[in-house]
Amino acid sequence: MKDPKAHPAKAFRTAILHSIANPTDVGLENSYQYFEDGILLVADGHVVKVGDAKEILPTLDDSVVVTELENKLITPGFIDTHIHYPQTGMIAAYGEQLLDWLNNYTFPEEKRFADKDYAREVAVQFLDELARNGTTTALVFGTVHKESVDVFFQESEKRNLRMIAGKVLMDRNAPDDLKDTPESGYEDSKALIEKWHNKGRLHYAVTPRFAPTSTSEQLRLAGKLLEEYPDVYMHTHLSENQKEIEWVQALFPESKNYLDVYDQHGLLSSRSVFAHGVHLCEGECSRLSETDSAIAFCPTSNLFLGSGLFPLSDMEAKGIKVGMGTDVGAGTSFSLLQTMSEAYKVMQLQGDKLHPFKSLYQATLGGAKALSLDNVIGNFESGKEADFVVLDLNATQLMRFRMEHAKSLEDKLFVLITIGDDRTIANTYSYGECVYEKQ
Ligand code: GUN
Ligand code: ZN
Repeated sequence: MKDPKAHPAKAFRTAILHSIANPTDVGLENSYQYFEDGILLVADGHVVKVGDAKEILPTLDDSVVVTELENKLITPGFIDTHIHYPQTGMIAAYGEQLLDWLNNYTFPEEKRFADKDYAREVAVQFLDELARNGTTTALVFGTVHKESVDVFFQESEKRNLRMIAGKVLMDRNAPDDLKDTPESGYEDSKALIEKWHNKGRLHYAVTPRFAPTSTSEQLRLAGKLLEEYPDVYMHTHLSENQKEIEWVQALFPESKNYLDVYDQHGLLSSRSVFAHGVHLCEGECSRLSETDSAIAFCPTSNLFLGSGLFPLSDMEAKGIKVGMGTDVGAGTSFSLLQTMSEAYKVMQLQGDKLHPFKSLYQATLGGAKALSLDNVIGNFESGKEADFVVLDLNATQLMRFRMEHAKSLEDKLFVLITIGDDRTIANTYSYGECVYEKQ
């Protein structure tokens, strides 16, 4: 039977760059493929092939439409492994570190999501912003209200995006109208899993906010959901701020460390993503690595809330998977380009470097691996889903001028990352279809 979503083959001709492995494992030279005059051939939402134009063009059927692009670079779509859609309207809230920021700004805004119409309005705004920034997949927090996640999935489905989201579980240390109970949190999550998990390109993540806002009973039921639905994700926060860490120790005095609270409740696996992990001890690193859990590195957020400097190289040396997260609204940009630029500065402050090919990997294939989605997205391997961005090398006057001085591919890529932002995104494609075009 013909796929009702079937689309004719399309070819895009311009410079094309994608990651094929982690530079930390294979070295920079073996980590990417670059075609200066390349073709990306897509059909039915998938990559057919990528390669040099002079090799692929003569093989194309006459029916294939070839789009030729000047002064552009195609890369895979960006992958944001930690973001809060309900915090779109409170990005850039002044003056606080994590716990006061949550109480003064975040919780009041999240209360508004009891109103489904408001939730939908923000979900639409949020998905528009992701597309404008070239992000094609994200792991997303909702609020405690199950309707917040329902409308988010509805809007994501309309755009045929590969998205992961979940309802926040929070049964203590929060305002009364933002609290669920262990049982209602379990039942609401279960209903959302049954409705949305693996529907098209959508997936569910069991989402306890962080250890301080869940009782042990709620975390136990989160673990039960993961046992009942083994391919569902687990998404939470971990070890972001010193006061938070002390609070967790006081709330769970029997736990060995912060991560151990989650470990005791069966929340660690290859489908678990922990945001931040800025201040981890040896024991926590070992357990993350043993269980193949991932950390979302959120540089703009960690700087904005004064949380600390994430030791990326050290975490990788310990065998921990790392993806990139914007963590909007504590993060200050939806742009993965800006996020990688801030990550570079975080590395500099630790006497370390972040090569542009490594940044590309982190924002694409590395994110896909952190989300266990590298079998379907993350690069242009034949058969993967055609999620990609067209970057404009002349996006601003400064970028055009600077590019004239760029000697090499890595130089150009570093400029794109360092001074690039939403203006750099000419088009965003999801499943082979254009979901954003810069005006
Ligand atoms: N820890 C618990 N909740 C949050 C949140 O909404 N944002 C961040 N950055 N950290 C958290
Ligand atoms: Zn967060």
